[in-house]
Amino acid sequence: IKKVPLFTQLNEHQLNTLAEICTRRTYKTGTILFQEKEIGSVFYMVLSGSVKIYTTSQAGEEKILSICKSGESFGELSLIDGKPRSASAQTLEECILLTITGQSFLELLRNHFDISLGIMQELSSRLRDTNQQVFDLTFLDARTRVIKTLIKMANSHGLRKGTTVVIKLVLNYDEISQLAGVQKSTLLQVIRDLEEKQILTISASDFTLELSKLR
Ligand code: CMP
Repeated sequence: IKKVPLFTQLNEHQLNTLAEICTRRTYKTGTILFQEKEIGSVFYMVLSGSVKIYTTSQAGEEKILSICKSGESFGELSLIDGKPRSASAQTLEECILLTITGQSFLELLRNHFDISLGIMQELSSRLRDTNQQVFDLTFLDARTRVIKTLIKMANSHGLRKGTTVVIKLVLNYDEISQLAGVQKSTLLQVIRDLEEKQILTISASDFTLELSKLR
């Protein structure tokens, strides 16, 4: 619990009290934690692994809104405003998650200003990300969006050696195109082009991206 950024200001006693009301569980890859429009009852904090937050069209197409990584949290909106879940959540790899009931979550917000501030900071950061996504979808071409998405993946799941980044592939091609907001055919076309220019090398488990050749 100490490692959760939201709780860094709490003292030992408060952490112990909190530990009693949190549940820690390991979830397998691909577990759907909840679906859009369901009633929200729990708040989630990611201790390890990553979770995709996505929305689904009537035709069943998905758009990934965000990927929650270790130290981040999700599922607060429906607990705060009492409305249904605004998006769905599914684990992208094996995850250890902490959960807390909606009632305890609201009590924490009422009793600890630092935790409330932490949630506000996380919401602010998400609004900034969403603004950036609106900008990218409005003003950038598909190729640039794919490249930005690869860089985003490098930041969240990459190991950097000099100008080379090895990106662990927790997303499949469908998911990468959903994150970039492009058709899968466009994604494959851009990837082929980056491979031909030796900017990208692909193996079964990772992408290797040569940052110095990206222009
Ligand atoms: P809630 O609506 O309870 O359930 C879905 C959760 O996904 C939501 O709370 C937020 O925690 C998270 N979420 C919704 N929209 C976004 C977004 N645009 N970016 C990041 N996270 C989001």
